[in-house]
Amino acid sequence: MESAIQGALPRLMITGSSGFLGWQLCCQAISKWQVYGLYLNNVPLASHITSIQCDLTHPKQLRSVFSSIAPKAVIHAAAVSTPQLCRQDPDTSFKVNVEATAHLAELCARIKTKLLFVSTDLVFDGYHAPYSEDSPVSPVNIYGKHKAMAEKLVLERLPEAAVCRLPLLFGWAPGPRRNFTLRIIEALADCRPVSLFVDQYRSPLDTHSAARALLKFLNWQGLLHLGGLRRVSRYQMGLLIAAAMGGDTGWLKPISLAECQDQEPQAPDVSLDSSLASRAGFKPLPLEQGLRQTVERFIR
Ligand SMILES: NC(=O)c1ccc[n+]([C@@H]2O[C@H](COP(=O)([O-])OP(=O)(O)OC[C@H]3O[C@@H](n4cnc5c(N)ncnc54)[C@H](OP(=O)(O)O)[C@@H]3O)[C@@H](O)[C@H]2O)c1
Repeated sequence: MESAIQGALPRLMITGSSGFLGWQLCCQAISKWQVYGLYLNNVPLASHITSIQCDLTHPKQLRSVFSSIAPKAVIHAAAVSTPQLCRQDPDTSFKVNVEATAHLAELCARIKTKLLFVSTDLVFDGYHAPYSEDSPVSPVNIYGKHKAMAEKLVLERLPEAAVCRLPLLFGWAPGPRRNFTLRIIEALADCRPVSLFVDQYRSPLDTHSAARALLKFLNWQGLLHLGGLRRVSRYQMGLLIAAAMGGDTGWLKPISLAECQDQEPQAPDVSLDSSLASRAGFKPLPLEQGLRQTVERFIR
C-alpha cells in the first residue's frame, strides 16, 4: 500500500543523500515526493527512499542514472563540502563541485527538470557582511571559488534554477560524520578544551530548518540566501552550546583569527542577509532552540 502511494508521488532526485544535510532532506521530502537518493561511498541512512550509487564525476554514469529516474526535480546537495578537503585535493573539488554541477544543470535543462543547487556563504570574503543576493561574490578559498564558479554555470545553463546559499549548518545526523557543533558538544561532554574564534562570525542554521526551506523554495528562480536568525561568533556558539548542556563554559578557550596557525584563508564575517527569503515565508528555528534540540538529540 505504502509503495503504491509512493509510486503516485512525483520523483525527486537528491544528490548527496548520504551527507549531513542530505539525510534531513530525504527524511522531510518523502511525505511529498518519491525520493531517489544518490550517494558515492556511504549508503544513505534515510528510510523509504531509493538509494542509487553514482559517481557524479563520471558523466556517462550520471547521464544514465538521471535518465532512468527521469526526475521532476533535483536537489543537488553533493559536494566536496569543506574548505580543508578542497585545499588538499583541488582537482577533485573542481570535478565534483564545478564540473559535475554544470553537467547536472545541462541534463536538467534538456528535459526541463527543476534544479535547486545548494551553495554556501563562503562565496564571500567576509569583509562586507551582511551579504545579500545582490552582493558580488569574492571567495577567499578554493571551496568558495569552486562553489561560485558552479553557481554561475548553473544559472547560465538553466536560468530558472534555484541557487540557495546556506550558512554554517548544525544539527544531528546519524552515522560517523561530524560537524562543528557536534565536535564542540563532544569536547564539552568529555571535559576537553576547545578553542573557538571570537572574531569569526556566521549566521548558523539548523539542518532541519535548512531542509524545510530548500523543499519550500524548490521552485525559486535565481539566488536565495537562507541564513539563520542571528549573527554570532564561533565562541558565542560555544557559549550557547555550553548553556544548552548545563552551563560549564570553562572548557571553551577564546582565540582570535590572528592566532590561527592554519594555512587556510579565513573569512571573518560571512553572515547572510536573508530578508528576501523571510519576506517569502522563510521561518527558521531560533538559534538557541535549534542548539538545544541538537544537544538533546546527541545526549539521547
Ligand atoms: N555543512 C555545512 O555547514 C554547509 C554550509 C553551507 C553550505 N553547505 C553545502 O550544503 C551541501 C551539503 O553539505 P553537507 O555538509 O551535507 O556535505 P557532506 O556531509 O560532506 O556530504 C557530501 C555528500 O556529497 C556526496 N559526494 C561527494 N562526492 C561525490 C561524488 N563524486 N559523487 C556523488 N556523490 C558525492 C557524498 O557521498 P558519500 O558520503 O556517499 O561519499 C555525501 O553524500 C553542500 O553543497 C555544501 O557545499 C554545507
